[in-house]
Order: sequence, then C-alpha cells, then structure tokens
Amino acid sequence: MEMETFELERQQSLWEHKVDINLSESGVDPLTLDGLAALGLDLDRLHGVPLEYIQSNGTPELRSQLAGHYAGATIEHLLATTGSSEANYVAVQVLVEPGDEVVAIVPNYLQVGLAARGLGALVRDVPLLPGADESSWSLDWEAFEAAVGARTKLIYLSHPNNPTGHVFTPSELDRIAAAAARVGAWVLSDEVYRGAVHDLAPGEEAPGMWGRGERIIAVSSLSKAYGLPGARLGWMAGPPAFIARCWARRDFTTIAPGALSDAIARFATEPSNQERLFARARRMMRTNRDTFRGWTGRQNGALPYREPRAGAYAFVPFVENGRLADCARFAERLRRNRSVLLVAGRWAGMPGYLRFGLGLEPGPFAEGLRRVGLEIGGGAAA
Ligand SMILES: Cc1ncc(COP(=O)(O)O)c(C=O)c1O
Repeated sequence: MEMETFELERQQSLWEHKVDINLSESGVDPLTLDGLAALGLDLDRLHGVPLEYIQSNGTPELRSQLAGHYAGATIEHLLATTGSSEANYVAVQVLVEPGDEVVAIVPNYLQVGLAARGLGALVRDVPLLPGADESSWSLDWEAFEAAVGARTKLIYLSHPNNPTGHVFTPSELDRIAAAAARVGAWVLSDEVYRGAVHDLAPGEEAPGMWGRGERIIAVSSLSKAYGLPGARLGWMAGPPAFIARCWARRDFTTIAPGALSDAIARFATEPSNQERLFARARRMMRTNRDTFRGWTGRQNGALPYREPRAGAYAFVPFVENGRLADCARFAERLRRNRSVLLVAGRWAGMPGYLRFGLGLEPGPFAEGLRRVGLEIGGGAAA
C-alpha cells in the first residue's frame, strides 16, 4: 500500500535549513558536543568509542539506565532505536494489520496514523478540544469511547501533546488505558515531551502512561526535552515479548543505534545530567513563551493566545477576516516573503491553527516573530 506524504516532516526537510529563521522546530535549541562537555561529558572517552555495531537493541548499560525511568522495568522491557520515530514505526509495523482499527487523539505529530493507514488500517481520529480558558484542552470523551471498539488494535496519544501542549492528567491516562484494556487494544504513548513540561519543579516529572495496563508502550527520545535531536537516539518501553518482536523488526530497518549516540544517551539520561538538560529546556521554553504571549497580544486579535503547558511550541488559532485562516497558505507565503518557517495546523491534523517553535535563542525567536507580524500586517518584506 502507498504511504501518504508525511507533510510536516516533508516541509521541514525541504525548508528548515534554507530559511533564515526556523520557527517550525518542536524541540529546544540543539546542544553541541562542547555544550555537553560543559555539563560534564568526557570528550576524551567519546574519542575512544569504537565506531562499531553495538548490541543491536542498545547497550545493556543504556537499557539498564533507561529501565530506571519506568517503574518495575528491566532491560528486557527496553529497546533503543534511531529516534522515537523508528520506535513508533516499528511498533505500528509489529501491531497493525490490514483491517485493524487505530484510534488516534488529534492534533498530533501524525506519524503513527499515517503509518497505520499505509498498512491498511482504518484510523479513527478523536479530537482534543480547546477549553474556555487559554491553557486547557479536553479530549472529546464521547467520541473517544465511541471510537474504541472490538476492532481497535491500537490507541495512539502524544503525551504531553504535540502540538497543543496539553499534559494528560493521571485520571485521563487511566481512562484511556481502561478503554484499551476493555477491548484488548494496545496503547502507544509517545512521550518525547514528558521532560518538557514548562512549570514543573526540578526533578519532578509529568505522569507517564507506563504501568497503567498490560499492553502499554511508552516511547521517548533525546530529541526534544534533552535538546539532542541529531543524536537520533530514541527508545521504547513495553512488555518483553512485544519488545523482542520489535527488536526482530529492527533488524530490517537500522540494525542498531549509532555507537556514539548510545554513548551520548548514557550520559544524557543519567538522572542528574537529565535534570540539567531538562532545566535548560524549561528555561528556554518559559522565556520564549512569555515573549510569545506579549507578542500575540499586539497582533490585533489575529492570534488569540493559548498557553502551552509543555513542549517547545505554542499552538494558536490564526484568524483572518473573522474566520480561521488557511494556515498552510500563510506558512508558504511567510516562508517565501520573510524566510521564516512555521507549522500549519493542518500538518498536525488541526487546520486553522499555527504552531510556533519556542525552542530558539531569544534573539532569533524575537526576530522570527517580528517577521511573522510584518507578514500578518502586510508590511514591507524584511
Ligand atoms: C510527538 C513526536 N513524536 C516523535 C517525533 C520524532 O522525533 P525523533 O525521531 O527525533 O525522536 C516527534 C518529532 O517532532 C514528535 O513531535
């Protein structure tokens, strides 16, 4: 079966390195090796890492450290992958067969729904709806309960949610897990932003899906809250028999994580280093969020502010002439006229909204907003 175009990734691949300012990124400004060295990474040791095939499911040291992130998990519950995208893809490949149904909470990153459809599944999207106050979103529970049925193989959620920044509460997570358990479905909880909740105190974590049922898969990576997307290192936690099937599938994709990436991941996911990286992300996200809030207030109602609770992005409606605008067209115009890349809500399953990356350094971030403001106002090209 043909795969549909993964529009978000395609647009980013095409343009993110060509524009002056990339506001389409959903993680924080990537660190360099020198930046990691400043946090204590031993570069000399890294120089000595053989560029070999490491154990193809990730080194036992890395998996053991990651197992510590999931209560009751052992290294048999963990598989290291090339980014969380590989973890998502392999999980879908292992689970989904033609005729199966997948329930996806939208908006989201769309990878899982597109991959499942490509494998012949029927994907039922269930919306997260904006609440009355500026930071709340709530799942349409009636639609959710109606969508989950005997043919449901998999329920997918991005938690904390990309792009809304909604952080599912423990009772919401329990309710999703209970619905899955009722019909014997799996839950794929994509938790790459779990370390990127804006207002958590040091050392605190958002609640995860892990432990809320038997068929739970929790996916994460170094890409977002850790600020290391180029390491291309992700992982999944799941029941050992399922993990073994995913590992076997991976023999066909990328075989093993990169040796250097595994070594970097061992450093980054060590609890005290992780906390320092997450603290850096929280600082950057909060600073830009405040700038963004102020800036939206000066856009004459074109971008009614919605406050993200997590993630290095803000997702706001874009109003033109009293109606939600065609954001894909605006994003294209903005890129051509102002050399700024934004994410149109349609690419995340929710037209009429724009996603602004909050992960840049404050200077380029402010300049990006200035150019967006010019384009909204129809001023002279920057
Ligand atoms: C929700 C979500 N999941 C997965 C990914 C894939 O990221 P990576 O493969 O770098 O871990 C992204 C990237 O934007 C994402 O937003």
